[in-house]
Amino acid sequence: MTNNLIQKYNIPGPRYTSYPTVPYWDKEGIALKDWEHSTIKSFKESNDSEGISLYLHLPFCESLCTFCACHKRITKRHSVEEPYIDTLLKEWDLYCDLLVDTPKIREIHLGGGTPTFFSSENLKKLINGIFKRAEKIEGFELSYEGHPNFSSEEQLQTLYDLGSRRNSFGIQDYDPVVQKAIHRIQSFEQVKRVTELSRKIGYESISHDLIFGLPFQNEESIRDTISKTIELKPDRIAYYSYAHVPWIKGVGQRGFDEKDLPKDDEKRYLYELGKQLFFENGYVEIGMDHFALKTDSLYKAMEAKKLHRNFMGYTAGKTKLMIGLGMSSISDSWYGFSQNEKSVETYTEKVNQGIIPIFRGHLLTENDLVIRKHILNLMCNLETEWNDSLPEVVKNDIIDRLQEIIDDGLVTITDSKVTVKEEGRMFVRNICMSFDLRLLENQPDTRLFSMTI
Ligand SMILES: C[S@@+](CC[C@H](N)C(=O)[O-])C[C@H]1O[C@@H](n2cnc3c(N)ncnc32)[C@H](O)[C@@H]1O
Ligand code: SF4
Repeated sequence: MTNNLIQKYNIPGPRYTSYPTVPYWDKEGIALKDWEHSTIKSFKESNDSEGISLYLHLPFCESLCTFCACHKRITKRHSVEEPYIDTLLKEWDLYCDLLVDTPKIREIHLGGGTPTFFSSENLKKLINGIFKRAEKIEGFELSYEGHPNFSSEEQLQTLYDLGSRRNSFGIQDYDPVVQKAIHRIQSFEQVKRVTELSRKIGYESISHDLIFGLPFQNEESIRDTISKTIELKPDRIAYYSYAHVPWIKGVGQRGFDEKDLPKDDEKRYLYELGKQLFFENGYVEIGMDHFALKTDSLYKAMEAKKLHRNFMGYTAGKTKLMIGLGMSSISDSWYGFSQNEKSVETYTEKVNQGIIPIFRGHLLTENDLVIRKHILNLMCNLETEWNDSLPEVVKNDIIDRLQEIIDDGLVTITDSKVTVKEEGRMFVRNICMSFDLRLLENQPDTRLFSMTI
């Protein structure tokens, strides 16, 4: 792969966990009654067949990692746990009242922040509280993000007893120099401990999150991090490109100097190196950023063309309705998106007033729904079929925009299909950008997205 292509395509671009992407949601927002209406519609269409998913955002962390782009609240005061869970369950009550029929839950994901900041007792209270007004549907899955330094055997066992068979741990990098720069000191022994404990308890899928492009990373440090990771053989590996987005309010990415970050081609090399090492050790690439062993459900979903992508990344189980509870959570009714208030205080205030606490959202237009499907297909299956619901003029525009990418040998196109070639995989975000009508109609004049490569 020539560096020229990398230089050419390494531009700011969305990660497409939604379409339209959040900065392109309707500036007018979504009226609460429209959001409620789209949720009810989606629920009625899907609750009995596939069920619904819940994303529960648990925002607290004991210590700030300076690379982190997630919505979190740093505190060592564990007295915040109970009131937060009470509010989240009140929010769930608001949805249950709205939906009337008993929700059938297919998947619950606990994200953060650090879900394992919460005590076993509070985690139990949370999940049991959800099921006071819901039932499980066949194939129910509970998954969560754990921090290796803050995950005790008791917590792992409690979550397993509550039905979890899948977890993921944030690792990022093992090099002490990198760890110091990102303010996240975490030993290999600690990670080994939680990984082996999870296996002993009976977890079927364990995932490790790594990041390339962090300050001071180089070939040697990445080789070492990956060889330690391989030694523990997680079922899945997320190998994220470091998203440097210090202009976003609330993100504390100022703890290191930008000159310490690997440059474009160095960063890309770290990705290529990681990919090669994962392949050599039996991992298969899944969509973008993810690798899995062939025994893992994510690989099986990809093979069956059932992979789905949402705000949490890739998932093997798609439901039309995903309700996000907790501060900053995003919900997806397929026909619309909404996001909850981003501070714990305003979130709590609204819930206490009996209002579903969204502060922005978007209702999808007919065109949005078609483009959304194409972008999902490309991100998940690396191909998409044209269908006649897209106006001819829009389709031709997309083909025009793809031409340069086709000429660069990254994509093939026929009357029926657009297919990303293996060489084009790393540019899939750029390829999706050719379909992104909203981005094209309204090019940003300030920085909105991280770099695509
Ligand atoms: C909510 S955190 C994980 C859970 C837990 N808080 C932990 O740190 O172990 C989810 C993952 O997002 C990834 N992440 C966070 N900020 C990122 C950034 N700026 N660029 C790329 N990945 C990032 C990290 O790999 C992190 O493990
Ligand atoms: S990486 Fe995890 S532990 Fe660190 S600040 Fe972000 S959410 Fe918290």
